[in-house]
Amino acid sequence: ENFDNILVERRGRVGLITLNRPKALNALNKATLDELVAAVTAMDSDPEVGAVVLTGSAKAFAAGADIKEMQSQGYMDMYASDWFRGWEDFTRLRIPVVAAVSGFALGGGCELAMMCDFIIAGDNAKFGQPEINLGVLPGMGGSQRLTRAVGKSKAMDMILTGRLMDAEEAERSGLVSRVVPAADVVEEALKAAEVIASKSKPAAMMAKEAVNAAFETGLAQGVVFERRLFHSMFATADQKEGMAAFAEKRQPDFTHR
Ligand code: HXC
Repeated sequence: ENFDNILVERRGRVGLITLNRPKALNALNKATLDELVAAVTAMDSDPEVGAVVLTGSAKAFAAGADIKEMQSQGYMDMYASDWFRGWEDFTRLRIPVVAAVSGFALGGGCELAMMCDFIIAGDNAKFGQPEINLGVLPGMGGSQRLTRAVGKSKAMDMILTGRLMDAEEAERSGLVSRVVPAADVVEEALKAAEVIASKSKPAAMMAKEAVNAAFETGLAQGVVFERRLFHSMFATADQKEGMAAFAEKRQPDFTHR
C-alpha cells in the first residue's frame, strides 16, 4: 500500500513505520493519523508481524499536532469532527508498538510517543507539551498520560511552563525506558521489537493488555483481569510449545496460535 505521510517497511517479523513529513517536522495532520492507523491495523491482524517500531526523522519524531491545520478551526468544527478522536483507535491496537524517538517529540508528538507501549530515546531527544505557548492545552491525552508516566509535579511543571525535557531527564523520570546514542535509536528499537516478535504473539498482546489495565483499573480488579488472561493462555498452542520446550531444554518454536 502506498502512503503519502508515512513509510512502511518489514524487517522480518517487525513492521517499521517512519513518519515522513520532514518539511513540517512530522507535524501530525489528519491524513497522517489515518495512514498510521491503517498501517498498524493491518499489522495488528497479520500473524507474520509480531511488533511495530514507530519512528520519525533524526531531527524530529514529531513536532506536534499540525498547528496550521487547526489554526482557523472553531469550537463547533472541533466538536463536530471530534478532533483527535481517531488517536483512540491507535491506542486500542493490540500489537506491541515501540517508539524510537530522535530529536523533538513535542505536543502531539510527545503524546503519540506516550501512546506507544514504551519509548527508546536517542540522547538528542527533547520531550515537551508546549501547547500552553499556543494558548491551548494538550489534546491527545498528554495531561493524562504524562501525569501517569512522570507524576503530578513534573507533569504540571512541563504542561504549565511548556519547557522541554532532555533524554536524560526523561529516563530519570520514567518517561522513556532507555536512552541510546541518537544514531542507533532505530536499530536499538528494532532489536527490542525483534525480541518481542520472537515470542508468542497472543502472549505478547495479552501481556500488553494486562499492563495497560494497570492504568485503567484498581489493583484488585487488575489482578483478577491478569489472572483470567493468564488462565486463557492455557488454550493456546504456544503455551504447550513454550512449556514443552523448557522441559525438553530446547528453544520454543511458536506458531502464534
Ligand atoms: C505545523 C509545524 C509544526 C507543527 C513545525 N512545523 N512544527 N507545522 N505544526 N506542530 C513546521 C514549521 O512551521 C516550519 O514550516 C517547519 O515545520 C520547520 O520548523 P521550524 O520552526 O522552522 O524549525 P526550527 O526553527 O528548527 O524549530 C523546531 C521547533 C519548532 C522548536 C520544533 O518548529 C516548534 O516550536 N514547533 C511547534 C512545537 C509545538 O508547539 N508543538 C505543539 C503543537 S500543538 P515552514 O513552512 O515555515 O518551513 C499540539 C497539540 C495541540 O501538538 C493540542 C490542542 C488542540
